[in-house]
Amino acid sequence: MRKQIVAGNWKMNLTVTEGQALVQQVLEQLPELSAQKQVIFGTPFLHLCQAVAQTKDTANVGVAAQNCHHQASGAYTGEIAAGMLQAAGVQSVIIGHSERRMYNHEDNALLAKKVDAALAANLHVIFCCGESLDIRDADTQNAFVEQQLNESIFHLSAEQMAQVTIAYEPIWAIGTGRTASAAQAQDMHAHIRGVLAAKYGESISQQTSILYGGSCKASNAVELFSCPDVDGGLIGGASLLADDFLGIIRAMV
Ligand code: G3P
Repeated sequence: MRKQIVAGNWKMNLTVTEGQALVQQVLEQLPELSAQKQVIFGTPFLHLCQAVAQTKDTANVGVAAQNCHHQASGAYTGEIAAGMLQAAGVQSVIIGHSERRMYNHEDNALLAKKVDAALAANLHVIFCCGESLDIRDADTQNAFVEQQLNESIFHLSAEQMAQVTIAYEPIWAIGTGRTASAAQAQDMHAHIRGVLAAKYGESISQQTSILYGGSCKASNAVELFSCPDVDGGLIGGASLLADDFLGIIRAMV
């Protein structure tokens, strides 16, 4: 049975003190999580070590970085290597978020290298995919997302794919309050799962968690998470307040 995951992506928000307080508030009110349920805090680099220290004794709760460099070390000023994250106790890394594709010009080929670097450092990868509004309006989203997967993660072995979670985040739903409908989310998640099955077989397809991201809130999480191929969420704005984030976590349990 695949994991159900609620992962917060704080993006470029919260001071270290504010982040520490948020993690503490969530942990103090965290509902009991079965072995197949997981909560992840996706913090800025500056907060990671503290978040690792705060969560290390709580089962099924982990920490993710929001990016990593594609090289293991070297003259890359301002960058962070996957091995550095792993050595600091970080378990996962978000790769391919649409904001990094847009603002940092990260294309599918570069993201494939980042995925390789993260897996080589024994990090779990949360790989983001999703279409823009013009592609959705043209109804070519399935082919677009399939190309993102083909060019960035479908070079992986079946064993490597076991370390990958996919996050479908329609760009037109991110930060807009315009959430994908449950039907839209389920359609794309089922398409992704079908593409996974065709590439890797039914077993890998069924064990891969596919998260939804894009204006997921406590008010819509229950419906979204009830979809058979939606295995949780990657949460932006609603992960920045303990009550909001806990409301989504409770929708998972
Ligand atoms: O990575 C999750 C994020 O892109 C979703 O943002 O604010 O729409 O939940 P938000």
